[in-house]
Amino acid sequence: MTEASPGARVALVTGASSGIGAATVRRFAARGHIVVAVARRAERLEKLAAEIAPSGGAVLPVAADITDGRQGRDCVARAVDEFGRLDIVVNNAGIMLLGPFESSPPENWERMLSLNLLSMLHITQEAIPHLRAAASGPRAVADVVNVGSVAGRVARANFAVYNATKFGVTAFSEALRQEVAPDGIRVGCVQPGAVDTELLDHVDPTVRERLLSGSLGVARPARAEDIAQTIDFLVGLDPGAAVNELVVRSARQPY
Ligand SMILES: NC(=O)c1ccc[n+]([C@@H]2O[C@H](COP(=O)([O-])OP(=O)(O)OC[C@H]3O[C@@H](n4cnc5c(N)ncnc54)[C@H](OP(=O)(O)O)[C@@H]3O)[C@@H](O)[C@H]2O)c1
Repeated sequence: MTEASPGARVALVTGASSGIGAATVRRFAARGHIVVAVARRAERLEKLAAEIAPSGGAVLPVAADITDGRQGRDCVARAVDEFGRLDIVVNNAGIMLLGPFESSPPENWERMLSLNLLSMLHITQEAIPHLRAAASGPRAVADVVNVGSVAGRVARANFAVYNATKFGVTAFSEALRQEVAPDGIRVGCVQPGAVDTELLDHVDPTVRERLLSGSLGVARPARAEDIAQTIDFLVGLDPGAAVNELVVRSARQPY
């Protein structure tokens, strides 16, 4: 086990191989946090860790498919085994498969439910005792940040199951917040609007074109770095304050 140096915080970030997760890993590492970076694509994680290492950042790549609850829980155990503590969990991994509900394949619902919701539940439950221990230390606070979505506030045609998962993230975050706030564990839900990442790559191309050329097209989406900056802001707040929900849209996004 490598003990985290005094003052360093240990963070676990899921969905760290691209988009918002990778940007969050970069930002946390630049802050001096030790980061456990979780996703399936091991080579992407290794590349990210190698990119950050020369500037002194400590990133541990952990390749896992967190739709398997056991693998998600093992990522938490790995972080604590390696570094002796866990201060921050960012439940960011997610997938968005859009289209009319009537013709949507049930395996798409299952992929979204198991990644967007169930993986968050497994990882968070496993992490709570460690976060509580961290919050009882000198820093007096620990953080869970769940990456929800504007789709967790507003429902739209073609988004039904994604909406269901992201409304779930919003509700879970608030209920959990009430349970663990007395222990000094902050729970924040960051709700991005349109962000330029790989998320849309998984959407059926015909559906994607139809949605983007219609009212859901955004001239200039926000950057993954903008959302990472928001997550960093939440966990960097003074221990006496907590931001519980934050919507971050593209400046040009009307919906
Ligand atoms: N982009 C947007 O416009 C937008 C808007 C609102 C909310 N969000 C939310 O932001 C979060 C991050 O998405 P993003 O936009 O950054 O998209 P992204 O670039 O596609 O990132 C998704 C991440 O999830 C990981 N992932 C997928 N399946 C996984 C699995 N089974 N186990 C472990 N990791 C898995 C992917 O890595 P691997 O493929 O390597 O596993 C990737 O690192 C999601 O929750 C998304 O719903 C995004």
